[in-house]
Amino acid sequence: MSSEPSSSNQLPNQPTDINAARKFAVPNRLAGKVAIVTGASSGIGQAIAIRLAAEGAKVVIDYIGRAEGAEDTSQAIAQAGGTATIVQADVTKLEDIEKLVAETYNRFGRGDILVNNAGVEKGADFWEVTEADYDLVMNVNLKGAFFLSQAFVRRLIAAKQPGRIINISSVHEDMVFPHFASYAASKGGLRMLMRNLAVELGPHNIAVNNVAPGAIITPINKSLLDNKQQLQALLNNIPLGRMGTSAEVAGLVAYLASEEAGYVTGSTFILDGGLIRNYHEQ
Ligand code: BGC
Repeated sequence: MSSEPSSSNQLPNQPTDINAARKFAVPNRLAGKVAIVTGASSGIGQAIAIRLAAEGAKVVIDYIGRAEGAEDTSQAIAQAGGTATIVQADVTKLEDIEKLVAETYNRFGRGDILVNNAGVEKGADFWEVTEADYDLVMNVNLKGAFFLSQAFVRRLIAAKQPGRIINISSVHEDMVFPHFASYAASKGGLRMLMRNLAVELGPHNIAVNNVAPGAIITPINKSLLDNKQQLQALLNNIPLGRMGTSAEVAGLVAYLASEEAGYVTGSTFILDGGLIRNYHEQ
C-alpha cells in the first residue's frame, strides 16, 4: 500500500520520524500504562504507537499485512527508548481479537489504553460498490472497533480497572464523502458507537472518545497525493491550506490517553485544518 522509507531514511512528516514524536511528547505522562494500537504498521497508527511509547506507555503494535511496517514501528520505539511488542491480528476476526487482548496481558500483564485505528477506504460510485468491498470497509472500520472494544473492556470490568478507548474516526463521521459511501457509513457508525459506549462504560470508569482527522499525509491518501489536480482541489477546501501530519494526530491521542483527560468522554475531536467548517463565499 505504501512506499514509505524505512526509519533509517527519514523524511519530514513520516510517521516513523522519532523527532516529530518526541518534539511535543510529555515524558512519563503514560508511564506504567499499556496501550494497544491497531493498524500500527503504517500511517497514523504508526505515529500513535511511537508517540504513546515516547510518553512511557508499553505499546502493543497490531498489524495484519505489513510485517516490515510493524518492524519499523518497533524499531522507532526502541530508538526513542520505549518498549513495544508486535502482534499480528486481523481485527475483523473475533479469534484474532481474543488473541490480541490475550497477548497484551501475557506480555505486559495489563491493558489500559485501546486505540482503534485500523481503517480502510474503497472509492467507487455508489451504484458500483461490491459486497466484498462493503464488507471489508465495514468489518475493519466498525466491526473491528466494536468487538475489540468489547474484548478490551471485559477484562477491565472483571478487574475493576479504569481504561481509555480512542477511536480514529474521520471528518466523514459527520461530513459527506461522495463516492466513499461505505467509508462514510462506517465512520458515522463509529461516531454512534463511541457515544453509546461512553454512556454504558462511564460507570466502569472507562472513557471513550473519537479523534476525527481530515486530510492527513498517509498511505490511505496515496492516490490523492499522486494526483496534483485532485490534491489542489482538496487543499482549496482546507482553511489552513495544507494537509495534516500523523504526528499531529498522535499528539491529540496522547492527550486523550493521559490522566489529564480524565473527565473527557463521549466526544469527537476534529483535527482537520478547518475542512469540516469550510465555506466559500458565493
Ligand atoms: C480519508 C481521506 C480524505 C480525508 C478528507 C479521510 O478520512 O481517509 O481519504 O482525504 O478524510 O476528506
